[in-house]
Amino acid sequence: MFKIGKTQIANPYFLAPMAGVTDKPFRTICKEMGAGFLYSEFVSSEGIIRNNNKTMQYMNFSNLERPIGIQIFGNNSDAMSNSAKVIEKRIKPDLIDLNFGCPVKKVVKKGAGAALMKNIDLMIEIAEKIVDAVNIPVTAKIRSGWNENSINAIEVAIKLEKVGIKAITIHPRTAKMKYSGKADWSIIREIKENVEIPVIGNGDVKNSNDAIKMFSETNCDAIMIGRGVLGNPWIFKELNKNISIQDKNKELINENFTHPSYQEIFFIIKKHLKLVEDHYPKKIAHNMFKSHFAWYTKGMPNATIYRNQINHVKSIDEMREIIDLYKSYLN
Ligand SMILES: Cc1cc2nc3c(=O)[nH]c(=O)nc-3n(C[C@H](O)[C@H](O)[C@H](O)COP(=O)(O)O)c2cc1C
Repeated sequence: MFKIGKTQIANPYFLAPMAGVTDKPFRTICKEMGAGFLYSEFVSSEGIIRNNNKTMQYMNFSNLERPIGIQIFGNNSDAMSNSAKVIEKRIKPDLIDLNFGCPVKKVVKKGAGAALMKNIDLMIEIAEKIVDAVNIPVTAKIRSGWNENSINAIEVAIKLEKVGIKAITIHPRTAKMKYSGKADWSIIREIKENVEIPVIGNGDVKNSNDAIKMFSETNCDAIMIGRGVLGNPWIFKELNKNISIQDKNKELINENFTHPSYQEIFFIIKKHLKLVEDHYPKKIAHNMFKSHFAWYTKGMPNATIYRNQINHVKSIDEMREIIDLYKSYLN
């Protein structure tokens, strides 16, 4: 058992917040596969304050998804702490996570996300104000620094802990790297050596071999998985099955993971599609599943033919027909 603040977490495998991906339907699938902790997609603090309908939708979750964190981004400590109060009162997640790592232009241009890695005073002011504003735990997700000449994640993590942040997730790439190159796991280890709060390691974990390597190289408390889960929510099953955890000891007990059969994959595809259909307005629901279909079917025979068809459908029903056709083609 693992804890952030008083929140009990059943296993140390976290689903990464991913905008446009980790919506309620996908989180539900990941939870069923055994994810230990879920996050919302990042949510604009300004949108929350304006009570913007779409923004509020991003924060919709069910109790089955607990424990869950809502991740917010912004560039203003008053707006962010006010939005945190709204979240605590109305949305009631298990924690609030602060996005200090998003490298997307439209976010950093406004001084939010990873831009705060080069404005530590403001970052710490934001974190402190939010910690003071709410009673639930507040955590933060950071990068290694703004660029290779300004690696400051260790200093940042120490300062965040001092103002009451309850856990740090570190994705050890610089903002400039975006998603290229390799995550520098040595920074995860250094942070772990310098703070008492839980450290969640993130970056380039795609299977249980990677996970055990990250645990042993960094001593991190939990592992967050992003791109490794696209089309492969089974990864949470694999991690829970292959890695034995006793107290602080983590051991790879089973290296093999039988990849799910086509039948199992299509069972999940259709389940996921139904969740998407129930969650989104009819007009847009089919669009919300197109990328997932491409990820689930990556590497399967003739997948591009069916993917092209899926990309042109106008409804979930049409999508379901093509999925059924592909399924019978594969059988
Ligand atoms: C499509 C996509 C959307 C993302 N959106 C967010 C986000 O909203 N908030 C966040 O903190 N990180 C976001 N990230 C970064 C991931 O949470 C994670 O830090 C990164 O992908 C590295 O982990 P990985 O190597 O396991 O993918 C996103 C990544 C991707 C690929």
